[in-house]
Amino acid sequence: MNPIQVGLLGAGTVGSGTLKVLQRNQEEIRRRAGRGIAITMVADLDTARARAVAGPGVEVVADARAVIANPAIDIVVELIGGYGIARSLVLEAIAAGKHVVTANKALLAVHGTEIFAAASARGVVVAFEAAVAGGIPIIKALREGLTANRIEGVAGIVNGTTNFNLSEMRDNGLDFSVVLQEAQRLGYAEADPTFDIEGIDAGHKTTLMSAIAFGIPVQFDKAHVEGITGLQATDIRYAEQLGYRIKLLGIARRQSSGIELRVHPTLIPAKRLIANVEGAMNAVLVQGDAVGTTLYYGKGAGSEPTASAVIADLVDIARLHTADPAHRVPHLAFQPGEIADTPILPIADVVTAFYLRLSVADQSGVLAAITSILASHDISIDAMLQRQSSQGQTQTELVILTHNTVEGRMRQALATVQALPTVLAPIVSIRKEELS
Ligand code: HSE
Repeated sequence: MNPIQVGLLGAGTVGSGTLKVLQRNQEEIRRRAGRGIAITMVADLDTARARAVAGPGVEVVADARAVIANPAIDIVVELIGGYGIARSLVLEAIAAGKHVVTANKALLAVHGTEIFAAASARGVVVAFEAAVAGGIPIIKALREGLTANRIEGVAGIVNGTTNFNLSEMRDNGLDFSVVLQEAQRLGYAEADPTFDIEGIDAGHKTTLMSAIAFGIPVQFDKAHVEGITGLQATDIRYAEQLGYRIKLLGIARRQSSGIELRVHPTLIPAKRLIANVEGAMNAVLVQGDAVGTTLYYGKGAGSEPTASAVIADLVDIARLHTADPAHRVPHLAFQPGEIADTPILPIADVVTAFYLRLSVADQSGVLAAITSILASHDISIDAMLQRQSSQGQTQTELVILTHNTVEGRMRQALATVQALPTVLAPIVSIRKEELS
């Protein structure tokens, strides 16, 4: 059988890795796919760069639409990124009857419903293993490997840039701005690092996992997203003293009334495996009713790790290419007519524990006043620390860990505590998950 022909849109970090790994492992890949996979066309505005990575025998063009218009191309690999031109190109490729492989989590988290519907109507596949956690085959695990399970929840470190920042801040007591520059230099960060540090990239990835885990539409607009820019070294230190690490966690969890979908800095017990995922590494913990807890760990970014995921999708499509569309694995794991309208819960309804840090006047009755407000909101305290403040003898810092509570109730209690004249600075609150 002739090799399946692939057109690549974008010859940057992941595109060059895809060309390199396909070339290096072509024989092994052919034996697995049942036929060869050949990138025969590459589009990139920087044609000189594309020519240098594509090598001889590959047609290089500046216009991505020339790839889509080529009837010999079976699969289009979109590695441009963003929601703009990438959305038009993916929809045009689908309309032209091409299968699409993409690493574009932003595009799918925001426009996935439209794109998957267009693909189903045209009978083509949109594969996106590379969009979540780079080289970790988490989409495959959720969609196929764990298909027997009712998934209860997913919690992941799915942004290497922020994890690298948090590790460096903790290990070296470095400032946030210094470590961000290093992550950018090492090539982990998005073109716009705001997407990393504000939690948006992790939100996109968690949204995609939530859809596959629970059979719901992709709904990034309903995700609660907080990044790490407000995080202070003091809180990383106190968390450590209490036996916790702070990680930017993407959480998608089933509750009786709906689905929690949230990304925020989170205290995790230091003894959990996932708390020890350091540097730019990613990890995703999945809880299924039959399998229990499983953990997937690996490189979440980089040229060849992400190429590994892109090529896995190419092999899947090569295998499915002649299969009846009705018998393919559904895009979101569940059959298109079986997508549920289970609501995404507002953050006020989420149940979680909290780390609180309060700068208070060091005088009698202050602690009693605070704990009585918490008690009146039915918020139970798990642990507490008191440390002398760097602001002087008349002030002290209280660090409180609570048991699980409803977030809305905690916000009401904190507003009352904040209004006490003895509370001298804005209260720091960080969510805590035991992940047990
Ligand atoms: N910017 C992402 C990260 C890499 O830092 O994890 C690709 O998703």
